Amino acid sequence: MGNEREQGKPMDAGACLVPRKDFPVFENWPDLVYLDNAATTHKPAAVLRRVDEFYRRTYANVHRGVYRLAEEATAAYEEARRQVAEFIGCDDTGELIFTRGTTEGINLVAAVLDSLVQDGDEVLVTALEHHSNLIPWQQLCTRRSLKLKVCPITPDGDLDLDALERMLTPRTRVVAFAMASNALGTVVPAVKVIAAARQAGAVTVVDAAQSVPCMPTAVSELGCDFLVFSGHKMLGPMGIGALYGRREILEKLPPYMTGGEMISTVSWDGAEWAELPHKFEAGTPNAAGAVGLAEAIRYLQGIGMEKIWAHEMDLARKAREVLEGIRGVRVLGCPATYCGIVSFVVSGIHPHDLAQFLARENVAVRAGHLCAQPLLRALGVDAVTRVSFYVYNDYADVEKMAEALEKAIRFFRHDV
Ligand SMILES: Cc1ncc(COP(=O)(O)O)c(C=O)c1O
Repeated sequence: MGNEREQGKPMDAGACLVPRKDFPVFENWPDLVYLDNAATTHKPAAVLRRVDEFYRRTYANVHRGVYRLAEEATAAYEEARRQVAEFIGCDDTGELIFTRGTTEGINLVAAVLDSLVQDGDEVLVTALEHHSNLIPWQQLCTRRSLKLKVCPITPDGDLDLDALERMLTPRTRVVAFAMASNALGTVVPAVKVIAAARQAGAVTVVDAAQSVPCMPTAVSELGCDFLVFSGHKMLGPMGIGALYGRREILEKLPPYMTGGEMISTVSWDGAEWAELPHKFEAGTPNAAGAVGLAEAIRYLQGIGMEKIWAHEMDLARKAREVLEGIRGVRVLGCPATYCGIVSFVVSGIHPHDLAQFLARENVAVRAGHLCAQPLLRALGVDAVTRVSFYVYNDYADVEKMAEALEKAIRFFRHDV
């Protein structure tokens, strides 16, 4: 199974899902309360070992050499692709393209969809978007004179599905949305959004950066055209991610980048593209990152994705409850379905001051606009403090965060 969990041991409510000793970072930072998992996650020793082993024993460029080492490197890379595809419910490895991460995946899709849109068409995003799933669409709209529409959210931070259905028109070419919000933790009813978008004839793009790490994902059940995510937010290495694209559409689209390895034949006058997925993987790929991501997936599967989501919801619910009990704290949003992300503001304390104070208490949180400036502005704030959980967090982390927060409030505010 590739992880060092203590199999068969009953888990207490609110306990970590894995032993912290699986994560070398906690040996070096034993007192760290790490609550910045929506930004990136730490790596289990199994992933570090797998990447190290790849470089020591199986390293050569992939899809090029005919010597045994190169063949083994290629096999490891392609086996990683198979595992990543399987993890998201995709049974055609030609539909799984390795990227640097979510941002690159969305930029790739927005660039190549250029060939499917016409002036006057519409792109629909939601008010929950991370800048990565907004700016590439803004750019496409500017370049091609398209209209960008933004579906609103309810006061609780849920997507307003009725509004979304009203906003879809025969001109809607693309519906791009985050399946889980990095700011409010909202989990969007993706199946409904995709079904409505498809009925309107739009291409669907799912930003799954925050959802693939913490809940079961099956593109076959979602019915989306594209889905993107990043390895580093799910225990894998930085610099690797994946783009799922439906074969039928990928085959119609032009390549994103051109160069080595994405061609079948080249002459002075032109080139023909390689088969999927290679048409979209120009140049030397991050093969070590891919095998590291596959190992991270093995580790997550050893825990179980349903269990991870339940754990995240439990910690988020606990954090929300504790935070709402502290005078002066306002939690942003109260979505019906959510993952392990909670954002809040404290009256009279700037989120950056708060984060700095918490850092001195060994509590790592994120403060700022969370790469979601339009969303925060719509919620009436410029910046927030965010806590986000993963498999190695527990109730004790929530309590330590709350204690440090109360200390910060006493330090900054003399009226309490
Ligand atoms: C919802 C969402 N989309 C996109 C991204 C961008 O991911 P990356 O920086 O790994 O490309 C993030 C990162 O925080 C995110 O949370």
